[in-house]
Amino acid sequence: MEAKKRIFSGIQPTGNLTLGNYIGALRNFKLLEDEYDCLYAIVDSHAITVRQDAAELRKACLRTMAIFLASGLDPEKNILFFQSHVHQHAELAWILDCYTYMGELSRMTQFKDKSKKHADNINCGLFAYPVLMAADILLYQTDLVPIGVDQKQHLELARNIAERFNSLYGGTFAVPDGYFPKVGAKVMSLQEPTRKMSKSDPEETYIAILDKPEVIRRKLRRAVTDSEADVRFDPELKPGVSNLMSILSALTGASMDAIAADFSGKGYGAFKDAVADAFVAVLEPIQKRYDEISADKVYLEKVMLEGAERADRLAAPTMRKVRKKVGLAPTKL
Ligand code: TYM
Repeated sequence: MEAKKRIFSGIQPTGNLTLGNYIGALRNFKLLEDEYDCLYAIVDSHAITVRQDAAELRKACLRTMAIFLASGLDPEKNILFFQSHVHQHAELAWILDCYTYMGELSRMTQFKDKSKKHADNINCGLFAYPVLMAADILLYQTDLVPIGVDQKQHLELARNIAERFNSLYGGTFAVPDGYFPKVGAKVMSLQEPTRKMSKSDPEETYIAILDKPEVIRRKLRRAVTDSEADVRFDPELKPGVSNLMSILSALTGASMDAIAADFSGKGYGAFKDAVADAFVAVLEPIQKRYDEISADKVYLEKVMLEGAERADRLAAPTMRKVRKKVGLAPTKL
């Protein structure tokens, strides 16, 4: 039997996971779990590139693991773990730092955005963040990386680093491809629909996976649309309505044409209510499972310890190979 292809992806445990994280990434994780050999990490080391409250971050890490499980990811089929529990991520990141150029990292749009937002804390970790992300991926000989389009530039860099290293030292890393959702690869903000929905923006701009139905309905009623009344897909002229249509399509599978036909002449009120219903239908069962899982600390701990052990075993051979190629002192003579 042919070996399954390998998948790696990660989500930062900061703040509240949003519907963007769900549609762009988490939902696909579940869809891929049977066909591929999957590792999904909660990337806590990435989170400290901006200042965090330690107690809150610790809680957010566990919350994120509970959301992974509540969204249906099976911890037997998938390796679910915390990035910082597998030391090889940091180790490989350092080595790859030495094979990445300052110029490449200066071009990363997320670095430019985040340095504006955190002008008082433009630290080296924030700058080298994409190299840690490359290490996450390359450590496991990953073939495919399910992500939203906002991470495409980082993935491109990971591919470039892998190719550079391979051409210097011979085949060492698999060169990964991206896996993007057909609809919903970039879910937009409810208040500024030309910007992506982001968990680091104010509350009213996003739907959180853990938002209760009444909060979802309220946020949607206030979502920015336009001064017309027709439900039509036109991201240029009608970014707000088109965003809601994309979300509805991603969640229900309905085509844009079918959605437009369904709401023809009904106005935005009815349309927004239908979008809210679709969210609630998807999120309510996740929230119910979340409440059960997050109360079960013994189970959460078992999942995270086993996940880290399994990831460590897979990371070790790549690390041995890399250490040898670059000439670090052997651990056995
Ligand atoms: P993060 O934590 O910002 O987002 C997690 C995943 O959610 C996707 N996403 C979105 N998709 C569609 N619409 C949106 N509005 C939206 N917002 C977020 C992201 O594209 C991502 O797939 N650097 C990464 C985490 C990471 C990683 C990795 C990912 C670290 N190492 C290795 C893949 C492989 C990040 O900050 O994602």
